[in-house]
Amino acid sequence: MPTKSWLVLLLTVLSLQAQAKESAADNYKAYCVQCHGLRGDGNGVNIRDMSVVPRDHTDVKSMSGRSDETLFKAIKEGGPAIDKSILMPPWGDTLSDEEIKDLVQHLRILCKCKFGS
Ligand code: HEC
Repeated sequence: MPTKSWLVLLLTVLSLQAQAKESAADNYKAYCVQCHGLRGDGNGVNIRDMSVVPRDHTDVKSMSGRSDETLFKAIKEGGPAIDKSILMPPWGDTLSDEEIKDLVQHLRILCKCKFGS
């Protein structure tokens, strides 16, 4: 394959990845900020009526204590799936597994952390 084709292919892959990240940010804005806050710091507009406060997704200490699988499960099946509050709703009917995986990556960007660090 000539060099130029490789370049086009590479750029296509990169822009698809950028789109995936963007859609996670969009989904977070659409479905999560009302509780978890615009900056993901747990300060959403709903919190004054909530008995359990939403997780601060920028908190490295608690977020690095959760594996990607646990975060995925919490988002897909809701708080009770990981022994957390029912106030964290399940999103499995609204979002695809792919979108939920992207959201987990988005949470890693918000906390600037990964599991165990
Ligand atoms: C109706 C309010 C509400 C909305 C909307 C909401 N959450 Fe939550 N979320 C919560 C609450 C409350 C908790 C904390 C539950 C607890 O600590 O028992 C939580 C916890 C979590 C956790 C578990 C974190 C942990 O380790 O304890 C994750 C992950 C999460 N939310 C992601 C999301 C994502 C992603 C969205 C958007 C798709 C979202 N949440 C939308 C209320 C909400």
